[in-house]
Amino acid sequence: MDDKSKRGKDRYAVIGWPLGHSMSPLIHNASFDALEINDRFIALPLSPSEFEPFMESLPSSNLRGLAITIPYKTEVLNYCSERASEVKAIGAANTISVGEDGGLVAYNTDAGAAGRALKEAGVELRDEKVVVLGAGGAARAICFQLLWQKAGAVTIANRTLSRAESLSEGLQQAFSDADVTAIPLNNDALAEALETARIIVNTTSLGMYPYVDECPVDTGLLKSGMVVFDIIYNPVETKLLRAAREKGSKALPGTDMLVYQAAEQERIWLGVDAPINMMRKALLKELSKAS
Ligand code: ATR
Repeated sequence: MDDKSKRGKDRYAVIGWPLGHSMSPLIHNASFDALEINDRFIALPLSPSEFEPFMESLPSSNLRGLAITIPYKTEVLNYCSERASEVKAIGAANTISVGEDGGLVAYNTDAGAAGRALKEAGVELRDEKVVVLGAGGAARAICFQLLWQKAGAVTIANRTLSRAESLSEGLQQAFSDADVTAIPLNNDALAEALETARIIVNTTSLGMYPYVDECPVDTGLLKSGMVVFDIIYNPVETKLLRAAREKGSKALPGTDMLVYQAAEQERIWLGVDAPINMMRKALLKELSKAS
């Protein structure tokens, strides 16, 4: 039984709605335990009517940091007195630190974590053409990162073409010399894009638990020597990644990005070097229970 008197203080939390079974408390608490940090990280599901009063009371609360997930990644910016440079570009935050004076500073660790996951897997982005599937918030953060890491071209494929077009326009405004195109998420358009692209990043929810039989790409379009990065982490191996692996491509699951974004949050909040291997182990153990 959880004996609250023996627990550290609830200093960090993830907010979102609906929050579902967030992995953030598990990953952060595994790290806090390993680092002997006597703080706890909790899940705080906040309905839309609870969001505003919560954010207004945050500066005077015990909380020192927040992780933010859907649907509040943009709305939280209205309460922040400072925004890190990546937040100014992307327009969304997944992290807030609460200063001693109650000032809220917004950061985005998703983008850098995606870049790190690719880098640590030995994927060099410079001058590469990348096909990004999806045009939502995650796609936006990742596209910025790809261009910051000097990808040669980005093709955004989305079910709703107008969303891909508007993301593409935004990127072209931010990176004047960027080669960015928008295409519909269909076989013909993808087949053409994949004639010259070797790297695919899936940011859509297709294939996410419980819809594990869905796949955003016709697997016949995958070839050996590609890199396929799926930001979904449950299941760890999506249908897309299984097909990529079977074709001899490099298949990167979303678990690393999840751990890296959490590790960076701890660097921001606490200035610590989080124990990434331990966090990953705790996450994979939990995810293996679900499969
Ligand atoms: P996130 O912040 O995780 O990116 P989001 O902004 O809701 O979430 O974006 C979800 C992405 O998954 C979108 O690109 C969405 O496509 P639409 O813009 O057409 O809605 C994509 N997506 C979700 N369900 C999909 C489906 N069944 N088929 C194709 N794309 C889908």
